[in-house]
Amino acid sequence: MCGVFIDREKLSSRYVPSQLPHRDAQLRTLEELLSDVVGGEAETPRVIQLVGPTGTGKTSSVYLLHRRLTARGGEHLFIYLNLRIEGSTPFLLFSTLYERLTGHPASRSLSAQEVLRKFLRALRERRKPALIVLDEVEYHAKGSLSSVIYTLTRLQEMEVDALQVATLFVARSLSWLKLLDPAERSSLGNIVISYPPYTREQLFDILLYRASEAFRDGAVGEDIVQWLADYTYTYMASDVRRALDTLFYAGILAEQEGSSKVMLDHVLKALRNLDAFIAPADVQRLSPYEQAVLYSALKLMEFSSKPYVRLSELWEKFLVVIEQVGLDALKLEEFEDIVQRLVDMGALLTEGPARIAPAPSINLEVVEASLKSLRYSYPWELAGDADASGRL
Ligand SMILES: Nc1ncnc2c1ncn2[C@@H]1O[C@H](COP(=O)(O)OP(=O)(O)OP(=O)(O)O)[C@@H](O)[C@H]1O
Ligand SMILES: [Mg+2]
Repeated sequence: MCGVFIDREKLSSRYVPSQLPHRDAQLRTLEELLSDVVGGEAETPRVIQLVGPTGTGKTSSVYLLHRRLTARGGEHLFIYLNLRIEGSTPFLLFSTLYERLTGHPASRSLSAQEVLRKFLRALRERRKPALIVLDEVEYHAKGSLSSVIYTLTRLQEMEVDALQVATLFVARSLSWLKLLDPAERSSLGNIVISYPPYTREQLFDILLYRASEAFRDGAVGEDIVQWLADYTYTYMASDVRRALDTLFYAGILAEQEGSSKVMLDHVLKALRNLDAFIAPADVQRLSPYEQAVLYSALKLMEFSSKPYVRLSELWEKFLVVIEQVGLDALKLEEFEDIVQRLVDMGALLTEGPARIAPAPSINLEVVEASLKSLRYSYPWELAGDADASGRL
């Protein structure tokens, strides 16, 4: 029995395929808009927005663009940041930019503005065109971070006009612009590349292509792909990521049953299981504050005799955790918003208004490991009461 997969990793969200069917127009426009920057001939820094709903290929097309430009000999620096994860403060954002560029962390004794200046200096010293990608900008466009946007889009006014820099802002909708003030908005310019939701037919082509890379010949019939394309279009807002997760899970279920084909029943079971809870791999995609809430809930559950924690207990634990890991304090309403978001995405479950439990699909180790990997926000060596195992 040889299973249904050739390479299941080809369905993971980390994998960027060598083609993105039905995104040729967007990729072509991006390449045209960036050719003078990458060629070292742009007169001003370029600012481009990529806008479209979730799972429409924005992030993948940025990576594919980078790969194609490199293959064509367009040597450039590529700096990618996800603001949901790395943008909760200007310091975190600039120090991550700096570290991605230089490979060294910035000193925590510097201010955010000082780190930005160091970043610009390091950029100039490298004398190479740079592509800076700020993904999921809607998460941190408010307050102090809007000054970050302002700075990055006005590089030429900061005596750095010789820099060949393109900044790509990636957002789910144009409504993130409402969070900015008029000057910031105008500094972004109006080059917008739109990623509309895929049609049924487009989803069919995309899923067929992705299935052909991941599964053995004949393991997933076209009827299954058609069914999933219809379902994704009708019930999952054309989100390809969810369709691929479903295919992945259905494949695992087929293998567990020793079946050489993925059947509709496997897909249905996968949908039932996936819809409910967040997958462990998605924990890394959560913001530091979201991870801290989840961590607090899991930690409380360790010693709880009940299958849930109370919102008030969670809030108190959360305050301790964020202080230990060096995140700025939040207001209660902001904490409640985060809890609600985690409930919406299936990372927390609620039973009654004030009783909360972490989703059974995640455990403390996963969240702890992910929190630790966010080095800048978590100066573990400073955390006073970590126990011998290094845990909080
Ligand atoms: N046209 C396509 N062809 C093949 N795979 C695709 C295509 N569009 C999206 N995908 C796949 O779907 C998944 C989601 O795509 P991606 O992460 O680029 O979406 P996104 O627009 O950045 O979504 P989000 O706003 O949620 O971050 C990825 O695994 C990607 O490889
Ligand atoms: Mg994305």
